[in-house]
Order: sequence, then structure tokens, then C-alpha cells
Amino acid sequence: MGLTIREAVETDWEEAGRICYEAFAALADRHGFPHDFPTVAAAAEPIRRMINHPGFYSVVAEEDGRLLGSNFMDERSIISAIGPISVDPGAQNRQIGRLLMQAALERANDRGAAGVRLLQIAYHNRSLSLYAKLGMDVRASFAAMHGEPIRVAMPGYAVRAASPEDEPSCNALCMRVHGHGRAAEVHEAIVAGDAMVVEHLGRITGYTTGITYFTHSVAETNDDLRALIAAAPDYGTPGFLVPLANADLFRWCLEHGLRVFFVLNMMTIGLYQEPRGAYMPSVGY
Ligand SMILES: CC(C)(COP(=O)(O)OP(=O)(O)OC[C@H]1O[C@@H](n2cnc3c(N)ncnc32)[C@H](O)[C@@H]1OP(=O)(O)O)[C@@H](O)C(=O)NCCC(=O)NCCS
Repeated sequence: MGLTIREAVETDWEEAGRICYEAFAALADRHGFPHDFPTVAAAAEPIRRMINHPGFYSVVAEEDGRLLGSNFMDERSIISAIGPISVDPGAQNRQIGRLLMQAALERANDRGAAGVRLLQIAYHNRSLSLYAKLGMDVRASFAAMHGEPIRVAMPGYAVRAASPEDEPSCNALCMRVHGHGRAAEVHEAIVAGDAMVVEHLGRITGYTTGITYFTHSVAETNDDLRALIAAAPDYGTPGFLVPLANADLFRWCLEHGLRVFFVLNMMTIGLYQEPRGAYMPSVGY
């Protein structure tokens, strides 16, 4: 039996997690960067959750009963977000990554997604070239920033946990800044207790689903984003994603002692609008 691409099933998560950890670790070691996923479990656990989440499309590559790679796509909004994709280090450069990407892009096309996006680690020439060959355009670059939480006071900007009543305001803000909503992510983050809003002059001027690598934030201004960042208890690693084009926010993070973990590029196909406000993407978009 040759190579097949099939939808992932629950029992794939451990092996897919191991491959994901090793693929990213080998890549980071080759370039002298720290590991994105510190342990196998840190890679495998999100994969288990994605395989079991109805809002994600999960595929694996298999050859003679052996798993060789996997790819995941978040389908919770009209924009689909790909990642993480990984191929066993011993099987890379054999077009398996191309097949896994094509499976996701075909699926997005079949479902009528308005666009597909991902964030790509900038030092990986192969993934950059592969995605560009598949039609994806580089739109912006981001620094993953980590370190001790910035605990500065932002007078006039009140940050609090988001409640279900805040969802319409958050979704309207996202629509205004990005031209599309991310309602399912906002809802899940509120239910999980991870979402925060900032209020300024008596109204909601920003929200975050968490100041981490896996979550996103949208705000009217950089001051709203600063207030959300300053109120977060922990950023994790690789950390939250600051648009490099937002030099003011990037420099503020540096001045407050945060460190750059690595730089990523956002790549897109389909609907894309230059953001009309302040924002920080998740590793998906
Ligand atoms: C990224 C990854 C999934 C790609 O899978 P792969 O099976 O190794 O890649 P493929 O062989 O399918 O495709 C590589 C393509 O890039 C091209 N390529 C590779 N290096 C290149 C370079 N330096 N310049 C230009 N093109 C290059 C190859 O020619 C090939 O193109 P083709 O399909 O038109 O022949 C895999 O390398 C991986 O797991 N990397 C580690 C984890 C990772 O970085 N994931 C992505 C995070 S954004």
C-alpha cells in the first residue's frame, strides 16, 4: 500500500504528537532556536483536542500502516486557519507536506471558506516556499514575545473578565477591524474563562481570547492592547504575537523587558483586508 492522506481518528493523536514535536524540534535545533513545543506532551495535547473538536479538520499521512505526518485546520470562522503541519523528519522533502497542505486547501475550497491563513516560522525556507508555491501570499510579520508579565497601570483603561453579554461588542469590534468575525473562538474563550475585555470611556474598546501564542486580540488602539497585555498573568512560550508593522507596540514590549522568541509570517489565500485598528493574531491568524 502506498502513501495515503486520510482524516485523523482519535487513536492517531499520540503518534501525530510525537512526529509534530520531533519535526519542530529538529528544525529548531538545525537553526539554533529554542523548541516551540518544550515536550512531546505539549505538542500532543493540542493535537488530541483538535482531533476531537468538531470545529477542526484533521488529516494524517500514512504509509504501510505507519503515520508520517499530520495537518490541522481550524474551521470555526469563515476564515480557515491551517496548522500545525508536520512531517516525520525522516520523511521530509518527499512531497508529503505538499499533499497534507493540498488536502486542507481542497477542503476549504469545498466548504466555501472565504479565505485560508496560517503563520509560518520565518526561518523555515521550505515551508515558506511550499506555501508560496501553493498560492499563499505573505501579508505581515510578527514577533513571538515572551517574558515576565508587564504589570504597568494604565489609568482610564479597565480590564476585566469577559462575560457572555460582551460577545456582541467583541464580535462587532472584530468585524470592524478585520472585516470578519471570530465569534466561535470568542465564545469558547469566554466559556473557558480566558477572555478579557478592556473598557475605556465607558465602552468596550478591546478584547482578547488570551495573551498567548494560540489566542488573538482586537482593539481600537494600542493603549487598549497595552492594557490587555499588562493585565495578563502569564504569556507562556513562544509568547504572544506582535505585528512588526506596529513599531510602537513592538518597542513598548521590548522596553518592558520582553524577548523575541522568533519571527513568523502570516500567509493568506482569499479574503484579506488590512486591519483597521490594533490587533494581535493567534498562531492561526
Ligand atoms: C514544513 C513541512 C511540513 C513540509 O513538508 P515536506 O514534506 O518536507 O515538504 P514537501 O517535500 O512536500 O515540499 C517542499 C517544497 O518546498 C521546496 N523547497 C524546499 N526548500 C526550498 C528552498 N530553500 N527554496 C525554495 N523551495 C524549497 C521543495 O522543492 C518542495 O517544492 P515542490 O513541492 O514544488 O517540489 C515539513 O518540512 C516539516 O514538518 N517541517 C517541520 C515543522 C514545520 O516547520 N511545520 C510548518 C510550520 S509553519
